[in-house]
Amino acid sequence: MLKIDGLTAGYGQATILRDVALTAEAGEITVLMGRNGAGKTTLMKAIMGLVKAEAGRIVLDDTDLAQLPAYKVPGAGVGYVPQGRRLFSELTIAQNIEIGLGAGPKDAKLRRETRDEMLELFPRLGERMSQRAGTLSGGEQQMLATARALCLRPKLLLLDEPTEGLQPSMIEAIRQVMVQMRDKGLAVLLVEQRIDAVLELADRISVIEMGRNAEDFTKAEIAPGEARLRAHLGV
Ligand SMILES: Nc1ncnc2c1ncn2[C@@H]1O[C@H](COP(=O)(O)OP(=O)(O)OP(=O)(O)O)[C@@H](O)[C@H]1O
Ligand SMILES: [Mg+2]
Repeated sequence: MLKIDGLTAGYGQATILRDVALTAEAGEITVLMGRNGAGKTTLMKAIMGLVKAEAGRIVLDDTDLAQLPAYKVPGAGVGYVPQGRRLFSELTIAQNIEIGLGAGPKDAKLRRETRDEMLELFPRLGERMSQRAGTLSGGEQQMLATARALCLRPKLLLLDEPTEGLQPSMIEAIRQVMVQMRDKGLAVLLVEQRIDAVLELADRISVIEMGRNAEDFTKAEIAPGEARLRAHLGV
């Protein structure tokens, strides 16, 4: 599905990621972990083409995303929920969803179905379609950002710390959406810092430290490896 190898990337002179490898499979939740500043968000941006790969490959099925301009990456099947949500705060929920749909399927019927699916998945959004995104609660904004990313019917969904700062009921709602998407066969790549939140959820965990691979855990390795995982993260 997604196979990254030898990825080196950064910002101008500042190389952040060095020779990074990462795999995310369809029908699995892959969790990317690492301390603050380890390069998790930079890796997400590199997948999206927002940070240019200096070396390496980012292959999604048969396409090397590293060779595409950023504007073509969503069309290759990648939905992105950035850290901090990044909505169009002056626009309404309905308008934000329209923007998501604009990047998605061209067929009018499929678009209507996609829109209906989003409102089924996130009923709270449906009740507030004309409310401006900037006035939504943090949890509602996260739902809208996720709905917008899902509107393009991605095969790979990237979520960068989606539950940061949310209350438990919202965290649970976001978690359920991730599980549903996994069960629908999407590859879900989640950045999350809280170990307790991922022990049950993750199908595999990749830890990066200072821009390099530290250790990978398969599902079977997660529980026995918990102490090492905590040591990597310093918690
Ligand atoms: N636009 C930028 N220009 C230069 N350096 C940057 C830029 N954005 C991030 N960095 C640096 O890249 C490094 C990795 O940052 P990144 O945001 O990828 O970390 P992170 O693992 O997502 O951290 P956090 O857990 O705090 O979100 C940091 O040292 C950061 O200062
Ligand atoms: Mg980050």
